[in-house]
Amino acid sequence: MAPEVVLLHGFAEPTDDLVAAVGSIPAAAPFRHLKTPGGKPMSAAMTNCGALGWVSDARGYRYEPHDPLTGRPWPAMPGVLRELAQRAAAAAGWPGFDPDCCLVNRYAQGARMGAHRDADERDFSQPIVSVTLGAAATFLWYGARRAGSPLRIRLVPGDVLVWGGEARRGYHAVGPPEADLLDGGGTATPVRINLTFRKAG
Ligand code: SIN
Ligand code: FE2
Repeated sequence: MAPEVVLLHGFAEPTDDLVAAVGSIPAAAPFRHLKTPGGKPMSAAMTNCGALGWVSDARGYRYEPHDPLTGRPWPAMPGVLRELAQRAAAAAGWPGFDPDCCLVNRYAQGARMGAHRDADERDFSQPIVSVTLGAAATFLWYGARRAGSPLRIRLVPGDVLVWGGEARRGYHAVGPPEADLLDGGGTATPVRINLTFRKAG
């Protein structure tokens, strides 16, 4: 791994509580395809829980305490999710992490995220905790510059990737969800859910 990018393989066990908590979020704040400031719909569908939610529209990227779709506050962050993020951050070397935002990304077939860095938060001393559920995908770590050949990190369900410190503002991207090998490249539609925990405000 790049220094200060830590892969916790299999750290997020998909317990009934975890699955129920993740499912409760879109029930209150539906997935939607946000538009980039340039007007293009993002291929991953998104929602949030926590005191703040990440949004994008013609006015730019930012955090909002209310869901613009429903007008209501984002659903509270379930304790099982907050605790998972706190334990993962501590295990990766950042004790005391207290996320106020969990962005939920839903990648259906072919959805991906281009190279970017997480830069809309106030406090860059706090890490990013990123959980993969559902299908696997390849995460691309570019680091300080959005150029050159990235480090390729295959993330399987249950993996947690944490980055902070010097790596906190590193460029990264993610590829589309992989079809289940046991499906033999068949009919099941792969869907990857990513939880990105941040201290935004
Ligand atoms: C993100 O960078 O916000 C999402 C990363 C991922 O889906 O793994
Ligand atoms: Fe990101």
